[in-house]
Amino acid sequence: MSDVIPARSPSGDSNNIAAFVAALPKAELHLHIEGTLEPELMFAIAARNGIRLPYSSVEEVRAAYRFSNLQDFLDIYYAGASALLEMQDFYDLTWAYLQRAFTQNVRHVEIFFDPQTHTGRGVAFATVIDGISRALDDAEARLGISSRLILCFLRHLDETAALQTLDAAMPWREHIAGVGLDSSERGNPPGKFREVFRRARAAGFVAVAHAGEEGPPEYVREALDILEVVRIDHGNNALEDADLVAELVQKRIPLTVCPLSNVKLCVVDDISAHPLKQMLDLGLFVTVNSDDPAYFGGYVNENYVAVAEALGLGREELAQLARNSFQASLLSQAAKSVLIAELDAVTHRF
Ligand code: HPA
Ligand code: ZN
Repeated sequence: MSDVIPARSPSGDSNNIAAFVAALPKAELHLHIEGTLEPELMFAIAARNGIRLPYSSVEEVRAAYRFSNLQDFLDIYYAGASALLEMQDFYDLTWAYLQRAFTQNVRHVEIFFDPQTHTGRGVAFATVIDGISRALDDAEARLGISSRLILCFLRHLDETAALQTLDAAMPWREHIAGVGLDSSERGNPPGKFREVFRRARAAGFVAVAHAGEEGPPEYVREALDILEVVRIDHGNNALEDADLVAELVQKRIPLTVCPLSNVKLCVVDDISAHPLKQMLDLGLFVTVNSDDPAYFGGYVNENYVAVAEALGLGREELAQLARNSFQASLLSQAAKSVLIAELDAVTHRF
């Protein structure tokens, strides 16, 4: 992968942008593993598990991927995840994503998983995490991709359910780096999960949370002040509050931005209206990620290319986004330095 470096070219056409993006080593920090379930694999797994999907073909599944908001998407995403039952299913799902990530020169991934989506259907926590963890171990050994796992609590459920999930995770403590918060944002503020995040942090997990995707800037502030997160997932609506932006800049809080997701879920009207460039210009610590690539029409490289073309980002800005992805990761400083040195070597050769 990284040894195939396209030749330098003076022109800035889209092929060259795509080649430059492809050559950049990068980390992906906002990726829901259940959101990588491509329709072909969904059908294959459902067939071997004897599960009937509410679609008759792969084409019909893809045609259903038109969303007008987050909830529209979540309804379909949870239906797709219902095909997953066995440890091998979680392994195959994760391994398929990691192979894709490898082809896109992703060197490090921080993967969200939603245990409650599965335990709520009678699938054991152990089945889920065992399958995912085995694939992550194989990716480290066979593909050279390092990883961290982040357990997300479903915010449309209550805090008691999140506390039970944290208890179920404790035997797997060394496989899980952090806790996060996802699902339906509006009406489910971060403060609803104060106690479970307090306990998780006390147990040594880092905290992150989705905030400001559909919810107001106050949710971003709550995630910082009440949940004590080290990163904000999305964070778009923080731009509505200048004092909050100043605080995010001053504290260097990373935002894991997901451009194609924002288009698909109508968080922005159009990719050309995406605030990523504005965020960079404000000095925010932004990264580019794919969120749920099987549903949103692109993996991480397609997200970089989409914003580069629509917003006119140059190579320096693209390289900065890739550098940010390592800097904002949970990797050790030593591991970050190695990957950033590789990134710098690639950008100098272009
Ligand atoms: N937002 C909230 N919850 C989610 C998302 C998202 O973009 N993707 C998967 N679960
Ligand atoms: Zn997300």
